[in-house]
Amino acid sequence: MTDRELLQRASAVRRQAYAPYSQFRVGAALLGESGRVYPGCNVENASFGLTVCAERNAVAQAVARGERAFRKLALVADGAEPVMPCGACLQVLAEFGDLEILSAKAGGPYVRTRLSDLLPKAFRLDRRKGKKTAR
Ligand code: THU
Repeated sequence: MTDRELLQRASAVRRQAYAPYSQFRVGAALLGESGRVYPGCNVENASFGLTVCAERNAVAQAVARGERAFRKLALVADGAEPVMPCGACLQVLAEFGDLEILSAKAGGPYVRTRLSDLLPKAFRLDRRKGKKTAR
């Protein structure tokens, strides 16, 4: 799976986005360690806060199919610049480790970054008392 192919998968699922309120359609394609690709698009709601981003829907698809380790995430969205995952999505992605992020505006060039660059100190739940680092 090349980067371009993964971006193409994100672009294809972007067409399924349900975004009647923002008109901002986002497609995500999450590449698992198995080589399988899990698509997700944003799904908005009349109660705006219930909207779910494309990235989190892709994670849910993967986990429901038994995959929890990921190599790359491709994102394709409307807008003038390639989008980066929102803070909530970064935290959800970080649950499953680091990964490469490729992002393109529809029909445009793509940029490459890493989850750990965007969210270097993700929250981790450590329930042990007196532990200084959270991993
Ligand atoms: N959105 C995503 O799907 N992913 C992001 O990383 C940022 C925002 C969606 C949520 C909403 O449907 C629309 O984009 C505008 O915020």
